[in-house]
Amino acid sequence: METERLRPTVTQREQWEVEAKVSDIYQLFSSVPHHAQTIMSELRRDKHLDFVTKGLGRLGPSYCVLDANRPWLCYWILHSIALLGDSVDSELENNSIDFLNRCQDPCGGYAGGPGQIPHLATTYGAVNSLLTLGGQRALSSINRDNMRTFMLRMKQPSGAFRMHDAGEIDVRACYTAISVASVLKILDYELVQNVGDYILSCQTYEGGIAGEPGSEAHGGYTFCGLAAMILINESDRLDLPSLINWVAFRQGVECGFQGRANKLVDGCYSFWQGGVFALIRRLHSLIDQQLRPSEVGEGNLTSGNIKTAASSTLSKQVCGLELTSSDDDETSHFGGGADAELSDIGYYFVKGRAELEPLFHSIALQQYILLCSQVQEGGFRDKPGKHRDYYHTCYCLCGLSVCQYSWSKLADSSPLPRSLFGPYSNLLEPIHPLYNIVLDKYEEAHDFFSRS
Ligand code: FPP
Ligand code: ZN
Repeated sequence: METERLRPTVTQREQWEVEAKVSDIYQLFSSVPHHAQTIMSELRRDKHLDFVTKGLGRLGPSYCVLDANRPWLCYWILHSIALLGDSVDSELENNSIDFLNRCQDPCGGYAGGPGQIPHLATTYGAVNSLLTLGGQRALSSINRDNMRTFMLRMKQPSGAFRMHDAGEIDVRACYTAISVASVLKILDYELVQNVGDYILSCQTYEGGIAGEPGSEAHGGYTFCGLAAMILINESDRLDLPSLINWVAFRQGVECGFQGRANKLVDGCYSFWQGGVFALIRRLHSLIDQQLRPSEVGEGNLTSGNIKTAASSTLSKQVCGLELTSSDDDETSHFGGGADAELSDIGYYFVKGRAELEPLFHSIALQQYILLCSQVQEGGFRDKPGKHRDYYHTCYCLCGLSVCQYSWSKLADSSPLPRSLFGPYSNLLEPIHPLYNIVLDKYEEAHDFFSRS
């Protein structure tokens, strides 16, 4: 009976195995001379480019399970290439645009493959791929009128979104819909209505955000929920100190992040959790005011008394936006001409200064990504002992970029060498943390959709 109680659980045993593997790697790293450490901590840029570029042409049979996720594969690969500061040749570019166009549904949105039904997640993958490719041909291939029709069809009476016709309703669907609508500048009050109520109902007692009301807080959904709340200007309705508390404790002894309490570290959470920190550091005024509510007037931040954050001076400070609506004018929140400003929240979000220093150990996370997740032959993996794949390659690179710029006050300013683990040649392109698109590519798309 006693021995029965002391027997470790499967997760405990797996946790010890991971800790042992990671510890061996770090001990080896600390025992070798400086020049060998530099080599070990180097980003294998060319190998990664080779690995991802090949995936855009032909994939092995193990990828057939992703047949309904083909625009995601395009995004993981194209975004990785852009993060690495490179681009595809014109043949691959044209093939990618043509392929994504074959995934575009005649009634709006993008499917997981030609002839499949449109889905919000693959719509996000397709749109982010096209924005990453950039240029007139890619950007003008997106039918924005049909996209809005598709989004409205996915919109539920509760305010949340469905992934696809008769599909699941969750925070992922809310984020992908809001992110796509915002980046394409078709976000309006009808799409936004009550979505904040739904996301708010998914923040759990732990502080993180779950996929659905009543589920467990998870890094993937916490990123989605927080990013969506910022894009609709309602982030002040979340309990930000408790969210920060939850995410800060997700970085483990292995130096990487876990997705939820008592689970294993995984390289992809370098972005899902690391991206949450990239967002939080631009919410410093809101955090200050949630921590010191008495200094900003009674009741200013209780969720019950804020109809929309567009009515809150706090949110205006966060995004640097001067919305036309005022606190006294209930009818003008987002309505009658405010929609363009609603779509511009993402634009202003990265224009302001990020005053907060990283609230996680950025160098330690880079160490996990480069020493434990990086595969020397190219690509990244979840953890030592696992195989590389395109999803982990993309999200480890996004996480690495977030770390490298985590001390930069301005989104596009070059970081100091001490912000990087390993040589300065490891530096990646900065991303827009709300959409997860390389910043330059986002700027080009913003200009394009502002004109058209
Ligand atoms: C748990 O898997 C994984 C989830 C519950 C989903 C995570 C959600 C995302 C990664 C966000 C998706 C975002 C978009 C934009 C579509 P698991 O139990 O295998 O992993 P775990 O043990 O690490 O929790
Ligand atoms: Zn993973």
